[in-house]
Amino acid sequence: MSIIHTHDDFAADYDRLAREYRCFIPEALFGLCFEYVHPHERLLDVGIGTGLAAWPFAKAGLEVSGIDASSEMLNICKSKDLAVELKQYDLRMTPWPYAANSFDHVVSCGLLHFFDNLEPVFGEIARIIRAKGIFAFTTKAPPPIKGGLGATHGKHCQEVIDGVPVFSHRREYIEELIVGHGFEPLKELRLWVGNGQAESEGLFFAFVTRKKADNPSFGKDFPRILDVCKAYEQAGHELATLGYIRHSTQRKANQEIVSLPFFSVLKHFRPIKERVIEYLRNEQKHTISTHCHWSHRG
Ligand SMILES: C[S@@+](CC[C@H](N)C(=O)[O-])C[C@H]1O[C@@H](n2cnc3c(N)ncnc32)[C@H](O)[C@@H]1O
Repeated sequence: MSIIHTHDDFAADYDRLAREYRCFIPEALFGLCFEYVHPHERLLDVGIGTGLAAWPFAKAGLEVSGIDASSEMLNICKSKDLAVELKQYDLRMTPWPYAANSFDHVVSCGLLHFFDNLEPVFGEIARIIRAKGIFAFTTKAPPPIKGGLGATHGKHCQEVIDGVPVFSHRREYIEELIVGHGFEPLKELRLWVGNGQAESEGLFFAFVTRKKADNPSFGKDFPRILDVCKAYEQAGHELATLGYIRHSTQRKANQEIVSLPFFSVLKHFRPIKERVIEYLRNEQKHTISTHCHWSHRG
């Protein structure tokens, strides 16, 4: 049976079952996020279902939108009148029907374990969320093996529950996705869910991440920074092969990176220096030391 039919079938019982399973993950997720969200901000719940995870955000005054493939889950969510917009959509199809940067925050509770490959999901969320917005989500932890909870050898463990494939993703894989898609991890919580019967017990991770600020437009506005990087690389090469650094390379490497008044003074201030270095690291260009000047030997 497909995951969508399964949810259609038990939509009417979903909220009751969640309580029976002592599943308060939605409330926990909101609790982890509350300090970052504000009334009137736009929040998208990806896999909104009946709206359990979206509800506390709506109550806190956020403008909630939701997307889900199950019409029955969406009908129940609609009856709660907590969302300004609901879309029926299969999230396996990309791109998702939203413009870039259209939401302040995104949550996804209880969805990601239905996807084996999370690359497209993270890619879409990174596209539709604004810079500095929060992305909070849950994943199912793999069964414990040597190496600690959440450890597994592949990208994920797969099991079939009620005829539906369920994926428990390796924690390292989730971390790679977070960082690789331009998010920074803020919080993480392990949540044990179940009604006391072994077969229904399960460990989940809740993550709160923040989309990093768009890279400063140094590369565009201050193209010289890239010239300087190249010159530093060239200098290293010359030093290794010639034993000295050419005058012309030194001049390029020592030129002012940014043609702003007083930049030669400002660049020595730690926050500015750190921003330049962070930009270069993010771009995976070359490491730069803004205060390093080589002496000429040739
Ligand atoms: C376990 S429920 C979680 C619902 C809600 N977020 C909550 O916390 O209670 C998972 C939801 O994901 C939806 N879903 C699963 N696969 C999907 C897909 N490929 N596209 C869209 N929705 C999907 C299901 O329809 C269901 O509503």
